[in-house]
Amino acid sequence: MSTQMWIRQIHRWLSMAFTIAVIANIVAMTMQVQAAWIGFLALVPLIPLLATGLYLFALPYLRRSNA
Ligand code: HEM
Repeated sequence: MSTQMWIRQIHRWLSMAFTIAVIANIVAMTMQVQAAWIGFLALVPLIPLLATGLYLFALPYLRRSNA
């Protein structure tokens, strides 16, 4: 599998981790649980999501300049 495909797969699976963290945040909010770490839980997958997402965004433009 190429680097591009790896990064796309990582982005795909991180999106599921992020979704679970968002759901955990909503549940904590509705249960009125006050815990800062639950809030930070979503940031853990979101930061690599941002990096891999920006890479995926740049891919078509990088490809064009190589041709
Ligand atoms: C944080 C900033 C993010 C950026 C900059 C970003 C950017 C991108 C880009 C450019 C693509 C590729 C689109 C294409 O096919 O050309 C992509 C795909 C995708 N993104 Fe994101 N994304 C971000 C966050 C998220 C989040 C929060 C989720 C969901 C919770 C998500 C889920 C997905 C999925 C499922 C794909 C399709 C992956 C595949 O092709 O298999 N992304 N994203």
